[in-house]
Order: sequence, then C-alpha cells, then structure tokens
Amino acid sequence: MDGMTRRRGESGAHPARRFRMTARNQPVGTSADGPAELVVSEVTVRFAGLTALDAVSFTVAPGSVHALIGPNGAGKSTCFNVLSGVCRAASGSVRFGGVELTCLRPHRVAALGVARTFQNIALSPHLTVRDNLMLGRHRLTRAGFVSAGLRLPRAGREAVRHGARVAEIAEFAGVRDVLSVPVGLLPYGVRKRVELARALCMEPRLLLLDEPVAGMTGGERREMAALIESVRESLGISILLVEHDMGMVMRIADAVTVLDFGRRIADGPPEEVRRDPEVIRAYLGDYAEGRHGDLGAGGEEA
Ligand SMILES: Nc1ncnc2c1ncn2[C@@H]1O[C@H](COP(=O)(O)OP(=O)(O)O)[C@@H](O)[C@H]1O
Ligand SMILES: [Mg+2]
Repeated sequence: MDGMTRRRGESGAHPARRFRMTARNQPVGTSADGPAELVVSEVTVRFAGLTALDAVSFTVAPGSVHALIGPNGAGKSTCFNVLSGVCRAASGSVRFGGVELTCLRPHRVAALGVARTFQNIALSPHLTVRDNLMLGRHRLTRAGFVSAGLRLPRAGREAVRHGARVAEIAEFAGVRDVLSVPVGLLPYGVRKRVELARALCMEPRLLLLDEPVAGMTGGERREMAALIESVRESLGISILLVEHDMGMVMRIADAVTVLDFGRRIADGPPEEVRRDPEVIRAYLGDYAEGRHGDLGAGGEEA
C-alpha cells in the first residue's frame, strides 16, 4: 500500500498544498446547470462474441466521487467509452441530467459537460501546458477558429478571459509554474495533473478519470488524491473514477461499483463493498500476488 493515512472527511488537501478554486466564473458558452445525476441502466456491450459489459447498472449521485473497480478485463474502460460516446452499447441506457447519452457522438457528450482523461496520456507533448489547457477550452470558445485566426476584437477578448481561467485552473491543479513548459518535458506525475487540469478547462459537470494515479510514486498519488477530493469539494463536480489503487478508492470514494468479467458484482458504500465475499473472491488472486495492496488499507482504520 502506498501509506496514505488521511481519513475521509479530513478535508483539506495534502499539507504541502491547498487546492482551492471557485466554481466556474461565468465561463463563455456554458449552461448554468449544476451537477446532474448519471444513471447507467442495463448497459450491454459486445465485441465479436465477447460480452464486455453485461446489463450493467449504477448511479453516480450529483457531486459525489464514484469509483468503478474490477480486475483487468472487467469492462471498466469499455464502460467509460460508452459514457463518453466513443463506444456504442448494444442495449441499455445512460442518462445524464435526464439526457440520453448512448445515441450521442463524443463531441455532443462533451458539450453536455462530460469530460474524461485517458488511461494513456493524450496530451500534445510538443505544446506547452498553457496551449494544452487552452485546447481544453475549445468547446467553450464562441468566436471560433476563423475569427480567432483573423484576430477579430471579440476573439481577442475571449482569449483573454480563457487565458485567465486557464491560469486559475493551473493554479488549482498545482501546475501554474510550468504553464510555459512543453508537456513532453514534464515528469509523469505532473503530466497527469496537467491532464486533469485540461479536463477541468472544459468546465465539466461530470469528470471521468481512468486510472489517474497509475504509475505514480506514493507522494504523487497523495497529491492527486487530494486534488480529486478538492475538485469534488470546491467545484462540486461529480467524478467517476476507474482506479486500481484500492487504498485511494476506499478513502476518497463515496460509492463503489465493482465489475468482474463485464458483470456488476457489487455496488454500494466502500466499507460495505470491501467486505463483500464476491468482491474479495474476484480480487483474491491479484491480492495474493501483491498487485493491488490490501482491500482494507486506507479505510477508516488506516
Ligand atoms: N475494441 C475492442 N475489441 C475487442 N475486444 C475488446 C475491445 N475493447 C475491450 N475489449 C475486451 O473487452 C473486455 C473488457 O475490456 P476493458 O473494458 O478494457 O477492461 P478493463 O478496463 O476493466 O481492464 C476485455 O476482455 C477486452 O479484451
Ligand atoms: Mg482499462
């Protein structure tokens, strides 16, 4: 286990840093809607004979951190792909704030306020952090590329406002000092924070995080966990989190859904889920090999 010892509810970030930011300050081109409920109902996805998701259902409460866990191949990434419009479900429904998402293209899903980060970093390594974050604001840009390219006054004013919000988000995510640095030159842990910052630049109502602390050191994990908690606490954004680090999941998640071979085998508060015999069985092999740490670690006894 990575030795994180903060308890749930002990708000405040890592002692070395406080992540604070106001919710979006009237960003350009977004609706004023707050967090909305995500309802996944009986979603099934098949790939050439393999059922990657088998009638999976769960609900992400507004403003909560909801973890989606399960062994490799359980269907977690497939589920994210359905939620973000990248993958079509064979059946079932996904409603976000009452709007059906399963028939929408990825850019339409993003426009509803669903932002995701990818398991493998998808930033542009040659661009600076600032430029990568500005790309995250693309969906909010009214002036569009043509007027921006022509340097029309309106585009100029918009760019200033977006630039100010990008700086604010960079500060919040602890990457303001590296705004002018090309992403490819940054250490891995910092790049992952830039990726989260870029998702925040879309002013989302729901953030989908696919393994945000994979490959990080203990210190980087603590910082990222604190940042995720701050996103929920100070921005009120709902977060759906796929993560292998059980200590982190058990500590920061309000609810946990467990998948195994495409089926939902448990769903509920972390303290309940980690005692579920079927969950323990699904994970036993991995724990025996020391790949996931201890299911109980990081919980209230930590
Ligand atoms: N594009 C695809 N084509 C065929 N099979 C896929 C595809 N994507 C995922 N799968 C299969 O679906 C199952 C679930 O995969 P995935 O959602 O990536 O699992 P997880 O993210 O939980 O590790 C796996 O058996 C995987 O091999
Ligand atoms: Mg995956």
